[in-house]
Amino acid sequence: MGNGIAHTFAQFDYKVNLIDISQPALDKALATITKNLDRQVAKGSITEADKQKTLTNITTFTSIADGVKDRDLVVEAATENVDIKLKLFKDIDANAPANCILASNTSSISITSIAAVTKRPDKVIGMHFMNPVPVMKLVEVIRGYSTSNEVTNLIMETSKKLGKVPTEVNDLPGFVANKILMPMINEAIITLFEGTAGVEEIDTVMKLGMAHPMGPLQLADFIGLDVCLSILNVLHEGFGNPKYAPCPLLVNMVTAGKLGVKSGEGFYSWTHGTKDLIVADNFKK
Ligand code: CAA
Repeated sequence: MGNGIAHTFAQFDYKVNLIDISQPALDKALATITKNLDRQVAKGSITEADKQKTLTNITTFTSIADGVKDRDLVVEAATENVDIKLKLFKDIDANAPANCILASNTSSISITSIAAVTKRPDKVIGMHFMNPVPVMKLVEVIRGYSTSNEVTNLIMETSKKLGKVPTEVNDLPGFVANKILMPMINEAIITLFEGTAGVEEIDTVMKLGMAHPMGPLQLADFIGLDVCLSILNVLHEGFGNPKYAPCPLLVNMVTAGKLGVKSGEGFYSWTHGTKDLIVADNFKK
């Protein structure tokens, strides 16, 4: 999601330092941002000049120390792994200016636990964007236990300057978005696992019956089945309630490396290069 967050800040005229340890990953991110800006130009929502200005606002870095040293705000969007995030926040805290706000785009990891490894817990906050970031209006703003009112207000105002609608929530497992979304996705997988209906039928019911833009199984493929599993584990452990236990089919798919769009296969096959939805071989009738 990092490329979408960088894209959005840059489009609204913030100077963005985009940081990744891998230069090829940064090159890929810039190519994705360019492709998504081209789509916005084609749709008429921005001009070619806006596109060029957005790209000029982004500079890439492979070093955290260089990338964060003169920043007012850092938004972390690394992989959803608690050890990686805690290590990153220690590094960022050691290198960012004392007054810099440290935000995480985590979809479920406790903001309070991230804040606790820094020397500025009052300035650590959740800024949870939704995919695709340039399109989706919501920013779930998560207050950690020690996050100050001043920092919360600043992040609410900054989100509005990005054309988003920020919503303030407290730091409990899954926050609001994933506490509600993930049980729905898990229930869709359980419905498939129990044989109530096939992949297409489940997604069609939710698309046409509930006016969801995409079915829960397709959405799970977009989000990444490993991410869905890790969020369900956070809910299950955090609340100690069996209703959040991940479906064994989801666990098996992640173990088999079937992670959805990013691995080429999940509930659907994503390697055929067209926009048609083709059910993965394992789920064909
Ligand atoms: N994640 C990643 N990419 C997505 C996406 C998603 N959830 N939804 C759509 N896209 C991509 C599509 O693949 C497509 O990209 P390409 O052209 O490169 O293939 C592009 O966005 C445009 O999609 P559409 O063709 O569907 O265009 P549209 O204008 O008709 O609709 C949309 C766009 C409004 C985003 C619609 O697809 C939609 O509502 N999608 C679902 C969005 C959603 O539910 N997002 C929340 C996911 S949960 C999350 O992000 C947070 C978390 O913690 C898990």
